[in-house]
Amino acid sequence: MDRTIWWDHQADRIGLVDQTLLPGRYEATACAAIDELVEAIQVLRVRGAPALGVAGAYGVALAARTITADDLEEYVSRVREASNRVRSARPTAVNLAWGVDRALESIGDAGDADEVRARTLAAAERLAEEDLVMCRALGAHGAALIPDGATVLTHCNAGALACVGWGTALGVVRSAVEAGKRVNVIACETRPLLQGARLTAYELQRDGIPVTVCPDSAAAHLMHEGGIDVVIVGADRICRDAVFNKVGTYMHAITAHHHGIPFYVAAPSSTLDPDLPGAGIEIEERGRDEVACYGGTSTVPAGVPVRNPAFDLTPLDLVTAVITEKGVFSDPTALFP
Ligand code: MRU
Repeated sequence: MDRTIWWDHQADRIGLVDQTLLPGRYEATACAAIDELVEAIQVLRVRGAPALGVAGAYGVALAARTITADDLEEYVSRVREASNRVRSARPTAVNLAWGVDRALESIGDAGDADEVRARTLAAAERLAEEDLVMCRALGAHGAALIPDGATVLTHCNAGALACVGWGTALGVVRSAVEAGKRVNVIACETRPLLQGARLTAYELQRDGIPVTVCPDSAAAHLMHEGGIDVVIVGADRICRDAVFNKVGTYMHAITAHHHGIPFYVAAPSSTLDPDLPGAGIEIEERGRDEVACYGGTSTVPAGVPVRNPAFDLTPLDLVTAVITEKGVFSDPTALFP
């Protein structure tokens, strides 16, 4: 699978796979202005924590190219201002802020705007390369946990489409398959935006990995039937006491715990947030129509309010182990040395 997000050196702008069009169309789109990038992040053309980290870093490089000012101080201050708009486009995935901050740090003592442009793009390109390396490494660590012939339940899309490539939860599956194991994936459809049905199913089918889609509400029944060996999900932020991931993750963790099924979280270190406890994290609340409309038809009576939290908080004591590029951590305190 090609990269999900990249820098288009010819046109000097960001290129990305427009995930709102999948599974019908696999098509690239471009972001040549900060407004376009913020919109792409907010409507989920680019999504998934690691991909958002790289989008944030490329956003700084884009800001450095689209902004002009009379003197260097003013120029850098405007680049920071534009970058902060990207940084706050979505609140929950810590990687977005992390990517913006890494690229901004690279400005350092740059002597002119050309140097700022060169440094920020080099920093963003480095993060994109690192993302691929980290996903490969965590995939290899996680693959050892997957029994041959296992059925793995996952939620949302923590695959190549959520990263620059390979994936986190699906990276573990890919690495297990690469190691010669037979793996079946159950992809929960992931209401309301269907990242599991549209994206996880798309990319696994494309790679020839067996995948079956089920409604989110069927997961407990499938676990009760005895057909699920392992649950693996990605993460948008891992605090000292909790994991944030796509809404629905918490119910899978509780259900897996009840049935004695291992529940793994796979994420690169850029998803760790040592600074705040889970209670301090903003969970993105998205618009009404995502829940109240289906295929253009209203499914909730007008005037009835809707809740649409995009993520939920799973306490770390429900997590069997966290898999990062550094290894498998069954003791979460070891994640934050
Ligand atoms: O709203 P999304 O599609 O950006 O949510 C994505 C998720 O919740 C993923 O599971 C998470 O970012 C991990 S991606 C490797």
